[in-house]
Amino acid sequence: MDKKIRIGALISGGGTNLEAIIESCKSGKIDGEVVFIGSDNPNARGLERGRDHGIPTFTADYKGIIQDIRESPEKIMPPDDFDINEVISKQSLFSRVLDTEKMKFFIVTRVIAEAELLEKMKPYPFDLLVLAGFMRTLTPYFIDRVNTDYDNPRIMNVHPSLLPAFPGTDGYGDTFRYGCKIGGCTIHFVDYGEDTGPIIGQKIFEIHKHDTLDTIKKKGLKLEWKLYPECIQAFAERRLKTVSMSHTLKNGRKVTRRVVKIT
Ligand code: GAR
Repeated sequence: MDKKIRIGALISGGGTNLEAIIESCKSGKIDGEVVFIGSDNPNARGLERGRDHGIPTFTADYKGIIQDIRESPEKIMPPDDFDINEVISKQSLFSRVLDTEKMKFFIVTRVIAEAELLEKMKPYPFDLLVLAGFMRTLTPYFIDRVNTDYDNPRIMNVHPSLLPAFPGTDGYGDTFRYGCKIGGCTIHFVDYGEDTGPIIGQKIFEIHKHDTLDTIKKKGLKLEWKLYPECIQAFAERRLKTVSMSHTLKNGRKVTRRVVKIT
């Protein structure tokens, strides 16, 4: 590898995946370098980890932004290049039957926060953006401004379940409460839905009768720390190709999905 990739990271909490990624860059397991760490949460422990490594950090305080707008809706100032109808038509986070006003409030507030993130990311050019425990859904407004080449998505996420099972905010909890006998973690590219993007890698663990939610989380995280760096390195080596695959359902409807081929 002649050139290191530049990795931007977004986090919300503890940042143990971030730590694994930074350490993998330092030890040469990833041909890359973390060039910024952004967060929606000013108190995220992961920000401190980043600062300890001398990596630039910043925050877009989602909670504060949403609260401000809730209290004074006249403060709503979406970015000039934002078209709500375009974002609504692209997103697949909400079904069309949901209360439209609620959906619009959700999207506008997130886009305002995302515009702040994008602004703060500007000084740090990057090749890959990794979501490492970033607990906010990204709207098409943000995704389109990072993924400017359809064939080369460049936002990765780690999810605590074997997708497509248990998308959402509590993958290990959902796996445990369902009574699954195996659990796992997934690395995928981000698309317009919630944890629906093309899968890059997965690892699994067994769930035994004495396991608790806590032991399951520990098993899962340990695998995440291995899997995420491996997938990032595959990206750095340009071994990830995203292609379309179509098939026809029993009802005659044709479905096309983007999938990742690893070369
Ligand atoms: C990880 O388990 C990750 O899979 C999960 O949050 C945790 C973050 O831990 N991510 C999600 O649930 C995303 N929807 P960390 O901050 O210690 O890396």
